[in-house]
Amino acid sequence: MGSAQSLRVVVLLSGTGTNLQALIDQFTTADSPVELVAVLSNKQGAGGLARAEQAHIATDVVDHRQYDSREAFDRAMMARIDAYRPDLIVLAGFMRILTAEFVQHYQGRLINIHPSLLPRHRGLNTHQKALEAGDCEHGATVHFVTEELDGGPAIVQARIPVTAEDTPESLARRVLTYEHRIYPATVRWFAKGRLTWRNGAPYMDDKPLTEPLDYGAEQDRASR
Ligand code: GRF
Repeated sequence: MGSAQSLRVVVLLSGTGTNLQALIDQFTTADSPVELVAVLSNKQGAGGLARAEQAHIATDVVDHRQYDSREAFDRAMMARIDAYRPDLIVLAGFMRILTAEFVQHYQGRLINIHPSLLPRHRGLNTHQKALEAGDCEHGATVHFVTEELDGGPAIVQARIPVTAEDTPESLARRVLTYEHRIYPATVRWFAKGRLTWRNGAPYMDDKPLTEPLDYGAEQDRASR
């Protein structure tokens, strides 16, 4: 797995890690452009850690309850993360609000996935919020992380229609399926140098990315 040229990726998570699993499934082949070098969690026993161990990826736990402040926890995380010399840090269900210092330290190489069509429905309970708002479409967004919570420049979105029968659970299930496609796709674009960060803004194929790519349209383009 991985070569001298492959993109070194550290994944941060707090939960079950199905997005991590999607990355493992894509990137643990011999010719992978990506090397998953470590999975870090703030939660001992997080399901994602077991997935990492199963895939022979290094794991580390930094329990936030052992630290007096958000700043102290984030500095401890930064020290652990940097020991792995990552090119990209992937937040995959990491349930901690990050300090400005942390975000600035990794600017342009820190991405997150959020289960809504940002800027709609930041924060938690996004599927419930989409239903309550009467949205006719919903989805997921991969974005670069900035100091604004769920607010950094969006890279790609997957859209699904909302039907009259949908519940928060059914939306969560369908959105998650697309998360498992758009997150590995984004990491691959980054590894291939198609997705870059220049002077505080994202670029795709050397063009400024002023609005998120539409995953469905991208797929269609790629298959033509
Ligand atoms: C996903 O819904 C993701 O969008 C959000 O956290 C959840 C993580 O799920 N940021 P999993 O642990 O990858 O299954």
